[in-house]
Order: sequence, then structure tokens, then C-alpha cells
Amino acid sequence: MKRGALVSLMAAALGAAVVLTSGTPRAHAASPAARASSPAAHTALGRLWLGAAWYPEQWPESRWPKDLALMQAAGINVVRVGEFAWSTLEPHQGQYHFGWLKRAIAAAARHHIFVVIGTPTDAPPAWLTSRYPQVLRVHADGRRAQHGNRRQFSYASPLYRRFCRDIVTRLAEHFGHNPDVIGWQIDNEYTNESYDAGTRRLFQRWLKRRFGTLAALNRDWTSAYWSQTYTAWRQIPLNARPGNPGWMLAHRQFVTATWLGFQRNQIQALRAHIAPRQFITTNIGGLGWSDNWDHYAITRPLDIAAWDDYVGEGQLDFYRNGAMSDFVRGWKRQDYWVMETQPGFVDWAPVNNSLVKGGVRAMTWESIGHGADAVLFWQWRSALGGQEQYHGALVGPDGKPEPLYGEVQRIGREFKRCSKLIAGTRPRSTVALLVSYDSRWAIDFQRQSVRYRQLQVLLDYYRPLENLTHAVDIVSARAPLAHYRIVFAPSLNVISKSLAQHLRNYVRSGGVLVLGPRSGMKDQYNRLNVERQPGPLVPLLGGRVQQYYALLKPVVVSGALGRGSGRIWAEALSPKSATTQVLLHYGAGNAWLTGQAAAIEHRYGRGTIIYLGTILNRRLMHAFVAQRLASAGVHSPFGVLPAGVELMRRVGEGREVVIVINHASAARTVQLPYAMRDVLHRGRSLRVLHLRPQGVAVLERPYRL
Ligand code: GAL
Repeated sequence: MKRGALVSLMAAALGAAVVLTSGTPRAHAASPAARASSPAAHTALGRLWLGAAWYPEQWPESRWPKDLALMQAAGINVVRVGEFAWSTLEPHQGQYHFGWLKRAIAAAARHHIFVVIGTPTDAPPAWLTSRYPQVLRVHADGRRAQHGNRRQFSYASPLYRRFCRDIVTRLAEHFGHNPDVIGWQIDNEYTNESYDAGTRRLFQRWLKRRFGTLAALNRDWTSAYWSQTYTAWRQIPLNARPGNPGWMLAHRQFVTATWLGFQRNQIQALRAHIAPRQFITTNIGGLGWSDNWDHYAITRPLDIAAWDDYVGEGQLDFYRNGAMSDFVRGWKRQDYWVMETQPGFVDWAPVNNSLVKGGVRAMTWESIGHGADAVLFWQWRSALGGQEQYHGALVGPDGKPEPLYGEVQRIGREFKRCSKLIAGTRPRSTVALLVSYDSRWAIDFQRQSVRYRQLQVLLDYYRPLENLTHAVDIVSARAPLAHYRIVFAPSLNVISKSLAQHLRNYVRSGGVLVLGPRSGMKDQYNRLNVERQPGPLVPLLGGRVQQYYALLKPVVVSGALGRGSGRIWAEALSPKSATTQVLLHYGAGNAWLTGQAAAIEHRYGRGTIIYLGTILNRRLMHAFVAQRLASAGVHSPFGVLPAGVELMRRVGEGREVVIVINHASAARTVQLPYAMRDVLHRGRSLRVLHLRPQGVAVLERPYRL
């Protein structure tokens, strides 16, 4: 019966996806990725899921029914299991004990709880690492990792991958058609690369495929500099940080390719045996903004994107968390899962304080508002031993609910009420922020100022965009752009010829492109572009950067928009065409900059390109963004909200769902532009919304796509 319900949910979601493709092209067209969803994605995204990481292997079987009954009473409908259980699944080489997992899945099903199986490869068992120590990873300083923790394997080791393939194949054979298993998580938070000799040889082989000849590599890396010229592939180091910028960029791309290979090995093992409705994902860690590897590349072969959303120390910064959620949604340009989140507090921050009362609920609804369809708490119950005894959980060591359990139970009730309404809806935006890993890496290798923090720069753009539109996409610079009225690229440092072409096409056909500082300085090999910034986009811009300056102190900036300051970084721009307009000038404060242009604008084709050469103070940035949005015809009917209030909108066939959260510590009132149904409060119709601190409202009204 449950299975039947799941199938009809999938059908409903498939129907919704077809409808999403209609609508007016520029404002509402669904992106190609959103259209091309698989049946597996529909399993994951066809309803709201509330869940927890459950480790049945850590508890006597006689306890399971009690835990599962408590989960069911909290409204939990999914658990993730197994991701560190290799030594229980295969206690000795070749001896598989899957019976307990089968019984755990069946027990969960008796409580109407579905299961995501995590492949256990992040924690190789001791028999494996002691018999085959060559699979252990080597740290950057040359030390070999030891058993006793997790993540001690080399991601490139062919032998380790053989063991992974074997255990994953067997799991897939056993559970690939289990009706209660809805999906698979590969490994757990891909994190550490390895610097062993085998990985070095793979790197050299990868470079050979990439560059073809040493002559090309030497040219593209400018390796005559400091006599780095290579005469044999085997001379190329794996660990030369801080090294040649070309080498540095190639190494990050190699790390991405190696994790992709690690992942592909398991995807192939799974796909050979699992039902098409079961989804494959991985949980991405690093607080969203990690840059060990390229998240767009890693999530491409997966059915859905999933991340682990932690705050750590402090309280929820809703702009940061909202931006990270939009960023995660952009990886595959579709809704996603929060595979882990903190039940109040963690055990790894400098101070492991708890979120405020109501903060977990607010953070959960914030995720849903930004496009999550699932939120799972890490973890259900604290293990009695092991490294994470102090971490927050929903049930304590005594097996009784923790104080937070009641808050989660409330979320469970609310999810039940909203699941049908929200399934098949998603956030839509006509505004995008562009990011690129090559650019992030290139800037961070050579920051020129410790104050130049790219996440902060992104948030400087995000905050006014969010305040003024309540709907921002953050996508790869290479994503389709035609349906955006305006795109902002705060730090697009690496602009290759092909990326320049992509951006040029967008502007030529009517788009508005706003470039931030450091744009277009480098080519795809992390070489300086011979044309000054923004390199290949200079002809579009009708101007260029004359010189860049890292700032010790802010400089005055002014123009028709008002007066403010530029901080951290400033570029003097020089218009090169009579039709280039200067929007902002530098004033006194730094003689090199005084009187120079700080922002210029130029029309190209049917569109416009703007270059902003500095990091503006908050007020002037707001004015700058507001003006750009107004001239691109972007506005939100909800206007500017009271401080601390966040509003998110998801639309689907026939309805618009608006989630409003008061993150402030005092009550807030929001005027709505039209009457909406207050779904969580008896469905009454509202024009004015009152929210207590940490208050959440889910509003709905009919809407035609
Ligand atoms: C995550 C990890 C979990 C758990 C959690 C604690 O990064 O995936 O296994 O360790 O942190 O916050």
C-alpha cells in the first residue's frame, strides 16, 4: 500500500514537471536541468520528508521498535542508515551480515518510515586497513593515516575502490528492489585527498590527457618561470603548495576528477542493480561553501543534490544560510535534500552552543523555503561511545526524548499538513548570482589581501538582492542564463574564451550582466589574460581596468546614486568608448584612485554590461543593486520587509506558497500585497501577518503559471 502511494506521488510529480515547462519564456521558463528530472528524483522531491540519521547497529534490536515508535510520533518518515556500518555489514573479509539491515528496514516500514542507505565506504573496517595498508591515505605532509577514525582511505586507490565496489554491489543486490528503500547516499562528505605515490602517478597521467604534450603544459603553466620546465611527466609534483598558479588550478581540477571517479565506481555498482525509482545522491559537507572540489561536476551524475546544513557556533545567520541553500539548489538547478542538520547543537565548533528555542524549526522552514524537500537531523540518538558523544540528538542516552523533540514533533505535524501543497512547487527567480570554482580557487590561491573573502563578497550582493526580490538563484557561470533578467557575477576571475562567448550571447540577446571586482583577470590555465580586466569582455564593456589596488582603508565613492565608500579592493576603470557611462567615481582617500571611475556601464546588442570595481559599503550597495533591478524591470510585490523577516516563495501548478520567518528577537508585522491562506493556522485568509520571534507562516494562494 505504501508502495502504491509512492508510485502515485511520483506520477503526480511527473505531471507537475511537465507543466513547469510552459509559461512565459523570460520570466518563468524552467531551466533544462529542472525539466530533465528522473523517476528517482521524483521519489525524492515528490513530497516533504522529515528524517534522522539512525544507527541501528549501535543498539540492541530489542530497542528498535521503541525508537521507531518515537520517530513515528514525531512525524519522521525517512531514516538514513548504514553509512558507517561496514564493520557490521562485513565483519570479516567476504563474510556479509546483511540480515540486521534487512530487519531494521522492515522494522522502520512497520512505522511507515522509508530508508535511505548510505554506502559505508567512509569508514573502512580494521581488517581491511590492516591487511591492505596501501589503501590508507597519505596526508600532505607525507604521513600515512591510521585506523581509528574515518576518512582514512585514499580516494584514488584502485584497490580501495575494488573493495568499495564489492560491498556496494552486494548492498545494491540485496536492497535495490526493497520497496521501503527510496534512495542511496554514496559515502559521506567527500573530504580528504591523498598524496600517495599512486595518486601522484594518476595526476601525471591525468595531466597528460589534459595537455597532450609537455610543450603545451610548459607553455600554459609558463613553467620557464623559476626553471619549472618539465622534461618528463614523472617530474611533476603532486604537492607543491604554494605553487605555480597553473599547477594549483590543475590540481584542484584533478581532485574533482578523482572524487568523480570514486563516485562513478559506486554509481555504476548501484545502477546495475537498483530500481529506477531509487535515487542516488551524496551528502555534501563543509557548510556549503567548501571548495575542495567542484560541486557542479560532482552533483551532475547524481539524481538529486544533498548537503549537510550546520550552523556550528552562534545562531542562524539567515542570509548566509539562505545564500548557501540557494547555492545548493543551483548545483543541479532543482530542489534538494538537507541530508543532515543539527538538532540544536554540534560538538565540533569552538563553542557548541544551542540554537535558540524555535530556531531549529525556523531553520528547517528556511530550508524548505529555499527549495529543500527533505530535512534530516543528525542524529537520532547519541551513541554511548565513539567520537561524537557530546553532539546534539533527538533522544538521549537514556532513550528518552531530549527537550528539542517537541519542536521536531511540531515540524512533523506541519510537514504533514503542507506536504501535498509544497510538493511540485519550487523557488523561481529572474535574478541570478554567478559563481565558478575555477574563479574561487584562482582568487584564493592569490588573495592579495587577507580581507578579500569571497563568501563575504557574494553575501554583499546577496543581501540586497534577497531583500529586494526575495528570490535569488545562485548558479554556475556556465548555466543557461536566458530566463534571467539580470545576473550578477561578483568574483568571476577566470574568464576563458568560451565562457566569454556564453556571457556575450546573454548580453547580446537582452540580458543585463553586472561584473564585480577581479573579473576576467585570468584564462582557463590561471594565466593572466593579455588584455586587462575583464579580458575577453573588454570590447563589450567599452572599457577596462587600468589598475587594481588592495586597500588598507576605505576610499570615498560617489555618483548619481549617492555617496559611500569602497572597501578592501578597488579598481580604477577607464572607459574606452564614447558610449560608455561612468556610474560611480572614486573621491579622495587614495591618490591613485582619486577621480577615477569605480563603475561603468555599456550597452551591447540588446543588453547591458556593468562593471563595479570595488566592494561598496552596505548602503551604497543597496542603492546600486536597487537601481539595477529597477532598470531591469525586477521587483517583488512583497516590497522591503521589516528587519529580520525572511520571505521565500515556491510556485507550482495552480498555487503559490510563501513561507515567512521572523528571525528577529521581537515580534514583526508584515503587510501582504494580497489575501493569502494561512496554512498552519486553520487556513484563515490574511492581509496582515503577525509573527512572534522565530515565528513561521506558510501562506498560499491560487496562482497560474
Ligand atoms: C557531519 C558528518 C556526520 C557527523 C556530523 C556531526 O559532517 O557527516 O557523520 O559527524 O557532521 O555534526
